[in-house]
Amino acid sequence: MKSQSQVIVRPARNVRGSVSLPGDKSISHRYAMLAAIADGPSRLENYSTGADCASTLVCLRSLGVKWERKNGLDNFIEVQGSGLSLAAPSEPLDCGNSGSTIRMLSGIAAGQKFTSEMAGDESLSRRPMERVITPLTAMGAQITSQNGHPPLRIAGTNLKGIHYRMPVASAQVKTCLLFAGLLAEGETHIEEPLRTRDHGEVALRAFGAELQRKENEVRIRGGQRLRGIEARVPGDLSSAAFFLCAAALFPGSQLTITNLLMNPTRARLLDILVQMGLRISVTQLEELHGELVGTLQVEGGQLKGATIAGADTAALIDEIPVLAAIAPYTEQGIEFSDAKELRVKESDRIASIAANLRAMGAQVEERQDGLKIPGGQSLRGAELESFDDHRIAMAFSIAALRAQGETLIRGSECAAISYPAFFSALESLVEH
Ligand code: S3P
Repeated sequence: MKSQSQVIVRPARNVRGSVSLPGDKSISHRYAMLAAIADGPSRLENYSTGADCASTLVCLRSLGVKWERKNGLDNFIEVQGSGLSLAAPSEPLDCGNSGSTIRMLSGIAAGQKFTSEMAGDESLSRRPMERVITPLTAMGAQITSQNGHPPLRIAGTNLKGIHYRMPVASAQVKTCLLFAGLLAEGETHIEEPLRTRDHGEVALRAFGAELQRKENEVRIRGGQRLRGIEARVPGDLSSAAFFLCAAALFPGSQLTITNLLMNPTRARLLDILVQMGLRISVTQLEELHGELVGTLQVEGGQLKGATIAGADTAALIDEIPVLAAIAPYTEQGIEFSDAKELRVKESDRIASIAANLRAMGAQVEERQDGLKIPGGQSLRGAELESFDDHRIAMAFSIAALRAQGETLIRGSECAAISYPAFFSALESLVEH
């Protein structure tokens, strides 16, 4: 049986202090994968310490890629690039809990001269994979799955470029196809229904590839060689979201976040929080390998409500659990729509959010593709479940800060999927 730990969160009076986040998860995965198929070594500082990005490294090692941690640090790695051709794995690639690993790496596996099997934990085994299987099959790969779910068996081949209109807005799928396109013959042309995070494009350029981007379309020519880079991964904005929302709960809060990713395709949360009443100023803005990074000064105020739909939902998809967790404390509440993708994340996040909010005594309307959470509510501390979903465990520790009485979160160890030191960092910022 899996061991479970629990955390108790006490109500807080305020949030104050300074924090620097572990490297962004989305960028860490992409840098590691591109470093693996580049020529020459790459050095990646502030690589995500989360278990998901460790899963990517484990899979790369199974594919013959040499990498090591440098200077005894768990967030500094050096990867020796293997060039575009990797080595046949002798066992199934263990993707753990990581949808990013299985989906993005399948694009690289599909272009190799061997067959690979990719599997993961119970949660990953429930997640939809036809979104990568369909286009990779159109490019020539042969893929079998369990009714569209992992494990996947990918028979690599000489891929052919395609023109593909993605039915689902997914940066993981887009990145998978860009990676496959890099290994394919001819050009791969991808159209996305909505603009999703562009770390795949930015990272490919950082490693020396050329690609063309026009509105929601991106094209890449196959056969381009990559060269290794030395990079520092910006702090993870989706992890910072928990502290930003914690600060938003207290009018007297003051928070500084250094070295934070500010990529415009990821930073929608900041605009929404400002519209809701948080004061945010950005200093020391710089560009690192095409990614914007800055220092944020944050001060709390009164929290108004929000309506989140369409392109905003897609842009905020990983931040919705924590926004939903603070929604009852806002003046007008928050309504989320067009969010059915939340049902196929690490847990069914719409159901997980609704269950935990109700356990805290909140009123919430659960919809097929969203949630309507009225404002002006008082919540009570309760016994909650993480549903083995890192973002649910962390989101509800923030809701607990303004509740009456203590909150216990079961299965809180899953926070380590993206942010192992989360609970100690939170404790260092809150005043009881
Ligand atoms: C990610 C894209 C999003 C996000 C995930 C990371 C990425 O998933 O939820 O945490 O790094 O591209 P989808 O591509 O499924 O929307």
